[in-house]
Amino acid sequence: MVFGPKFRMDMTHTMAGSWRKVRVSRITCETERIKAFELTPEDGQPLWSWAAGAHTRVKLPSGTVRQYSLVGDPDDVSTYRLGVLRELAGRGGSAEMHEVLCEGAVIEISAPINNFALDDEQVPHLLIAGGIGITPILSMARVLAKEGREWRLFYCTRTPADTAFLQDVRALESRCVEFVHDEGDASRGLNVLDLLRSAPLESQVYVCGPRGLIDAVIYKAKEANFQDSRIHWEAFTASGTQPKEERIAGSFEIELRRSDKILTVPPDKTILQVLRAEGIHVKSVCEEGYCGTCLTGVLEGVPDHRDDDLLTPEERESNAVMTVCCSRSKTAKLVLDL
Ligand code: FES
Repeated sequence: MVFGPKFRMDMTHTMAGSWRKVRVSRITCETERIKAFELTPEDGQPLWSWAAGAHTRVKLPSGTVRQYSLVGDPDDVSTYRLGVLRELAGRGGSAEMHEVLCEGAVIEISAPINNFALDDEQVPHLLIAGGIGITPILSMARVLAKEGREWRLFYCTRTPADTAFLQDVRALESRCVEFVHDEGDASRGLNVLDLLRSAPLESQVYVCGPRGLIDAVIYKAKEANFQDSRIHWEAFTASGTQPKEERIAGSFEIELRRSDKILTVPPDKTILQVLRAEGIHVKSVCEEGYCGTCLTGVLEGVPDHRDDDLLTPEERESNAVMTVCCSRSKTAKLVLDL
């Protein structure tokens, strides 16, 4: 997942990094490509407390780790609920969730992490969800409704049949919710600019879903004179809705100083993939920029850090290390300590 960089709220749970065993107690098909998973703690003790917008990391039987937003009620820590879109061109995590995990399976999950938290300000909250982006947004809507705050939700999908968690959304106050089905015709989709122009400028705006929707909301919110600090977004990466290609742009060279090699990293490959193809082994686990396993020394050049809040601001500025599984280069060439 990636988050609005300027608006990031680091709400990392105090127990982040710890893992618990949970049983898959229920799986339901929300749509043709989205399943909901209910996870119940194996030890019978309550799960960690969490706030709307949080996600958890799931360790799959293959060892693959993926992160998914919590879609349940934050007041219920007896069970966590996740929504998972089956990626057609994913790296296998969502396929394993859909095809391998069955009810009764025991897996591990991490303590929740929240980089997409609701603002406490008593102002209108505008929630915009596209497709599977409903998962964090639904928990936010529940909290706002429960707290009696002012909010509106616009839920954009192709058709009612593609609309996950429909009953949950319908259970919210109907006057606050609008479903937008474009039937595959973008001209029938949400008019983001009109919506933002009609919203009070002090509103807090949250968007989660496909990259195109997120970009439209960010761009149009600026056009409608919203302050940057009032726009919050979360995009799913390899484990979610954002096509990987969209976060990889431009080719560059890497020089491997110890191996005495120069390689080109094309736009559609990560550094890690290029290294692998050359038979150069760098350990990796998450391949999404949050475990730190692939951290590699940088001797020259400026990395384009795309890790998931793994590096501290000082480490980023020093440009001395980078995650080769997802980060790229701001310079034509990087010299790596490999
Ligand atoms: S493999 Fe986890 S940060 Fe790169």
